[in-house]
Amino acid sequence: SSGPRTELHIVNREIAPDGFYRQTVLANGTFPGPIISGEKGDRFEINVHDHLTDSTMNKTTSIHWHGIYQHHTNWADGPEFVTQCPISPGHSFLYNFTVSTQAGTFWYHSHEGVQYCDGLRGPLIIYDPDDPHAHLYDVDDDSTVITLADWYHKPAIELTVPQFSQSILINGLGRGANDTTSPLSVITVQQGLRYRMRLVSISCDPYFNFTIDGHNMTIIEADGSNTEPFPGVDEIQIFAAQRYSFILDANQPIGNYWIRAAPEDTNQRAPVPPPGLAILRYVGAPDEEPETKSYPAINSLVETSLHALEPNVPGKPYPGGADMNFPLNFSFNDTKFYVNNASWESPPVPVLLQILHGEHTPQELLPHGSIIELPRNKTIEINMPGGLLNIPHPIHLHGHSFYVVRSAGNSSYNYENPVLRDTVSIGSSTTDNVTIRFDTNNPGPWFLHCHIDFHLAAGFAVVMAEDIAGTPAADRPPVAWDDLCAIYDKLPVSD
Ligand code: C2O
Repeated sequence: SSGPRTELHIVNREIAPDGFYRQTVLANGTFPGPIISGEKGDRFEINVHDHLTDSTMNKTTSIHWHGIYQHHTNWADGPEFVTQCPISPGHSFLYNFTVSTQAGTFWYHSHEGVQYCDGLRGPLIIYDPDDPHAHLYDVDDDSTVITLADWYHKPAIELTVPQFSQSILINGLGRGANDTTSPLSVITVQQGLRYRMRLVSISCDPYFNFTIDGHNMTIIEADGSNTEPFPGVDEIQIFAAQRYSFILDANQPIGNYWIRAAPEDTNQRAPVPPPGLAILRYVGAPDEEPETKSYPAINSLVETSLHALEPNVPGKPYPGGADMNFPLNFSFNDTKFYVNNASWESPPVPVLLQILHGEHTPQELLPHGSIIELPRNKTIEINMPGGLLNIPHPIHLHGHSFYVVRSAGNSSYNYENPVLRDTVSIGSSTTDNVTIRFDTNNPGPWFLHCHIDFHLAAGFAVVMAEDIAGTPAADRPPVAWDDLCAIYDKLPVSD
């Protein structure tokens, strides 16, 4: 069925979500961008118009629909110079894709340089008319979306030295250091009702420890895949680009409770901003700030506990033994990150356009050393060692969800009921070796990269080029697509 047609106007605008005015890049003038939603099976037509004029930030743009498989619509995936040329000012581009099998919590963001750190990020929710959770929990409300963001007072392209953000925003509002008065987001609940809440980290960099004073959460979804209910969680560790849904029982006394998102970073970058704050307010409570306290977590959802987080999709049997194994190694030298000894740099022509033009081997495709060819219809296992710079890096693969058969902090493998997700931390310890599995059932070049956006900009990325020869047949981009590249004086598509 046809979902909503959405017009996204990408504009520069001055906003002060934490009391400090700065110039930004926004979708339809808001931070975060508007919630885009639809139902499983919908076709999305999202027309993106570039109105950018401010040259302190990049004026071209491109949008990625994070977590959506883009089956046979690889061209609509969004990462600049992987699947498309960026949209230039004064131009529009229609993303047109069907979400046929997926439902859950996703997001969209600029995939142009570090532009999403300047504001172009928002939630994308796919509702499932037959959602099993709705019945299981007798959920009264499934409309709450909570976004967590780091917020900087300078344009992201100026943040050449890694530094911490000035504030943490929950649903677009927050307070930096020494600020006790800027307005905060309020999430209203009715005592006695049950809520499904969708937590989306739209972070550029830090991960968060998310808590709601006085309340436990039951996790039911990770990154767009349902999980077996994981009850009693009092803290969620959430990395950049990850999502969770949880059930919240509004079973506490009527009042106000702090919602907190403490930014975490082991890179010793001072000063760390104070935790992001928002207010959980019961209907009938006064319009006041909470006085609730936070207590050390007893049952924190961390990457190690992912072994306990089981998918409730019919388990694909994994008795061990993938068809192919691709070990990746990650390194850092001077200012650049390397994946298997190559640092990603945008090629002059998008990888997909090169493929459609007839370049069919990693030797022909640019950038050299950054294209890994994956054959079709195989089960692929990828090993990723942790410990790089002693910080956890959230690795995201486009075009797929993957089973996490070994997660950070675990030395054992879980082939029985591994969680299915699209972004996983590889861990901060050199003893970590995170292992993921997926099936190559989706032809096209798919980006795999660290979702710390500054690391991506410094080369922490590689392209998994899946079934290169089969890509042109599977993927017919619209005519407007090569117009974008024509603007850049790029190669025409010859076949
Ligand atoms: Cu949300 Cu390439 O990423």
